[in-house]
Amino acid sequence: MALKITVIGTGYLGATHAAAMAELGFEVMGLDVVPEKIDKLRRGEVPMYEPGLEELLRRHVAGIEGSTGRLRFTMDWAELGEFGDVHFVCVNTPQRHGEYACDMSYVDSAIASLAPHLKGPALVVGKSTVPVGSADRLAAYLAEHAPAGADAELAWNPEFLREGFAVQDTLHPDRIVVGVRSERSEKLLREVYATPIEEGSPFVVTDFPTAELVKTSANSFLATKISFINAMAELCEATGGDVAKLAEAIGYDDRIGRKFLRAGIGFGGGCLPKDIRAFMARAGELGADQALTFLREIDSINMRQRGRMVELTRQELGGGPFLGKRVAVLGATFKPDSDDVRDSPALNVAGQIHLQGGQVTVYDPKGMDNARSLFPTLGYADSALEAVRGAHVVLHLTEWREFRELDPAELGEAAAERVVLDGRNALDAEAWRRAGWRFRAMGRPGA
Ligand code: UGA
Repeated sequence: MALKITVIGTGYLGATHAAAMAELGFEVMGLDVVPEKIDKLRRGEVPMYEPGLEELLRRHVAGIEGSTGRLRFTMDWAELGEFGDVHFVCVNTPQRHGEYACDMSYVDSAIASLAPHLKGPALVVGKSTVPVGSADRLAAYLAEHAPAGADAELAWNPEFLREGFAVQDTLHPDRIVVGVRSERSEKLLREVYATPIEEGSPFVVTDFPTAELVKTSANSFLATKISFINAMAELCEATGGDVAKLAEAIGYDDRIGRKFLRAGIGFGGGCLPKDIRAFMARAGELGADQALTFLREIDSINMRQRGRMVELTRQELGGGPFLGKRVAVLGATFKPDSDDVRDSPALNVAGQIHLQGGQVTVYDPKGMDNARSLFPTLGYADSALEAVRGAHVVLHLTEWREFRELDPAELGEAAAERVVLDGRNALDAEAWRRAGWRFRAMGRPGA
């Protein structure tokens, strides 16, 4: 009989995973503790902006005309426990308030709510990003608290999806990593992922700690690449070099590669910043903090870029206070093709300038609602052109395609001064200069 799958937590990770499992042909039940989310999902609406996700969801959610009906949602743990053979835990693990460590309370409470309902053989699969050692602890908890005892097994299966590409990354993962303790668990997971495995996704079987570490080390490596190139950008600025050319040139060495070497205002979002901090905190607890002290530097190089952008803006405005200066900010999300503003470098820069007296007007293609609720005191405009109207300086802080397609001549008519600062090294400098703009970008030669 075909496996039945449940997905606990319906954020980016869970909503995408649930829809993808239905797409792969399984019967799926998703659970969340937030009633509004469940109501939306039942109507086939996605609680966030993620390209392609709503279509995928609507193809499978029961009750939607023309759907396969393979995907249902519930808030009832007993129903979930009864239904599933394999339970994926996809809840978030944010940074703990006032600390570097990660907050495990959502994972812990998901496992505690599920355990009493595991009456027969079941596999619980953790997908959340957790401190190494968690799987070991949670497996012991399950064996003790599930009526099925040792038949309620645990596996760890980290997720590598990127926001903006969540559907593609989930349906066609570049690797599948599973931390398992039994052949039965491995066999079940091979069954779940049979389609991508057939398509050629590598399937890597590990123990628990390795699976947990793969995730945090992958994100740490990505963060390191970005901070490395941003450190080079600082040197380019000090010497008159061009970091974009430098990145291209070192990137031709395929041991280095060109990806994740775009200098600018740095990384943000709900993953990279909190993951490297939680990793450092965990290493400290394990007595291995020296191994990860370099991540402290990666974090501070990253945070420094936001301040550098503020200073570059100040310089371009004549070096004095921001009072009375109108600043247009293009971009609010932490990256394009997402409406996520968590720890967004763009909003951070906008906020700093605003708090220093600048009159900031922000426009973002998808992140306006989230930005407004996080930073209600900033000014907001309905289009890039409106944001730029009357501005003394324009900051390009999230590299949406829409911004690359703007007409610099048209914007030039609207702006008070033709000064643009590219915080993402993504605009066509020549096109802007031809339209009479003074163009500056981080780590590149000036105007
Ligand atoms: C990241 C990882 O890339 C995923 O593999 C992982 O699954 C996910 O975290 C997670 O842990 O859930 P994501 O947070 O969606 O994915 O964002 P990234 O695409 O990694 O970008 C992170 C930040 O780095 C963005 O603010 C982006 O603007 C910045 N970035 C990226 C740069 O500043 N330069 C670059 O060259 C690349």
